[in-house]
Amino acid sequence: MKNGRHAGLVVASNRLPVALIRNPDGSVRIEPGSGGLITALLPVLRDRGGTWVGWPGISGDLSKFGSLLEEANRKSGYQLKAVPLTEEEWRKFYHGFSNEVVWPLFHDLQSLCYFDPSYWRVYQNVNRHYAEVLAQNRTEGDFIWVHDYHLMSVAMELRRLGINAKTAFFLHIPFPPLDIFVKLPWRFQLLRALVEYDLIGFQTLRDQRNFIQCVRTLLHDVAVHGKGRLLTLRETGRDVKVGSFPISIDYNAYVKGATTKEVADKVADLYKQLPNRQLILGIDRLDYTKGIPQRLEAFRNALERYPELHERVTLIQVVVPSREDIPQYYELKTRIERLVGEINGQFTKPGGWVPIHYVFRSLDQSDLLAYYRAAQIALITPLKDGMNLVAKEYCACSIEEDCALILSEFAGAAAQLQRGALLVNPYDIEGVADAIYRAFSMDITERRARMRRLRRSIREQDIFWWVDSFLHAAIAKDLNAFPLPEDYIPQSEIGGMSL
Ligand code: UDP
Ligand code: G6P
Repeated sequence: MKNGRHAGLVVASNRLPVALIRNPDGSVRIEPGSGGLITALLPVLRDRGGTWVGWPGISGDLSKFGSLLEEANRKSGYQLKAVPLTEEEWRKFYHGFSNEVVWPLFHDLQSLCYFDPSYWRVYQNVNRHYAEVLAQNRTEGDFIWVHDYHLMSVAMELRRLGINAKTAFFLHIPFPPLDIFVKLPWRFQLLRALVEYDLIGFQTLRDQRNFIQCVRTLLHDVAVHGKGRLLTLRETGRDVKVGSFPISIDYNAYVKGATTKEVADKVADLYKQLPNRQLILGIDRLDYTKGIPQRLEAFRNALERYPELHERVTLIQVVVPSREDIPQYYELKTRIERLVGEINGQFTKPGGWVPIHYVFRSLDQSDLLAYYRAAQIALITPLKDGMNLVAKEYCACSIEEDCALILSEFAGAAAQLQRGALLVNPYDIEGVADAIYRAFSMDITERRARMRRLRRSIREQDIFWWVDSFLHAAIAKDLNAFPLPEDYIPQSEIGGMSL
């Protein structure tokens, strides 16, 4: 016990798990945040307690909202500490460097990057603010764990503030290959900032290898040892551990949630409204990395080439609003809505079957679970994704184990789920269409065998397994004692893996 408090966990992420939102009348309300990072970290903080440092959803002076955050603190069982940012900082740090530079570049979409030099300066300043709030809210011995691409320079800023605590970092999104990373005008500075952490975690072996290749090529004063899992900085002799830790979900909580009466009633309603057909489900944030237009084209292609699907399937596509101030996101919404309109116009039976049900809003938890439980097929086809928790949540909720998962090869989840899912290349419109037909026609024995495998792996490697593996790696002397997670190597044929 130090300073009257146990040494504990202090996490930092761009957003807090709750967001302050301005009402049209100027008052402010508080709502739960969304996205994979929050879904994954919430059970960890609930389970272990600790402090969560992040942006509270509103820029400018936060003193007026102290009571709202205090109330959220009381309810959550851990401490929320807000990082105040100005409008300008938020715009250049979040919309700018984080989402117009790092997000597209790390998802291999360098043509969508906008390398404005002022973004980088503001990114560093904002990372310093996060470091300051962390410094004020930590105690000697706390484990400082920083999350995601918004905060890659925080360890460096902590060192500049004279804090020499051990720090760890986990990247929730992919790390790109060398030939893409080198396009970044600040490639050396960013890699240098990353190696200031004592442990750097990635979602997959592929991301870890990409990072190591960048370090080997660009940082000549860093020696790489032990199959690329330990870096030693030659000048200081300080060691930096590098590992891969596939993130997951609170499996039991999803199983429990999916079996409530409220969810069962909603599933029954859905079946009443959409009878005698298989439901195919897509749920994504509005994001160009999620491959939604390509998926809609694949669905159209399936309806064109397999008329037996008419009136026998309905695609429910949920799109959760996201980053709407960035022009590419807004344009994507228009493109998706045009495609949905075109496909429905082409195939709808007057007075009867409508092939696509399009939902554009954030879902509450019981609606989300009802969609997961009701759908016989999940169609999850990101062009690239760090992990994709929707895929894991869908499997956890498939209680009867009679459903099929179609999953992109380029989701981080493909490494763990490759033996049970039908893996597809999301750019291959006909390939995805064939996978839809294959899932539709798959017999119950094959579905059960695949889904059982999927659920077993998610149950065994749930979010608590993930956090334990990461924390053990942080204190371990030898990372080679940790088994390497599975890698994914593209197959030549979809669904060609043997069961
Ligand atoms: N989700 C949400 N609100 C919704 C629909 C989904 O918060 O209306 C959650 C979903 O349950 C999942 C997360 O958002 O936990 C999405 O995570 P994923 O890793 O699939 O993708 P990300 O959005 O983080 O890129
Ligand atoms: C991804 C990122 C998270 C982010 C989430 C939602 O999962 O890895 O860091 O919070 O998307 O995006 P947003 O920009 O709304 O925070």
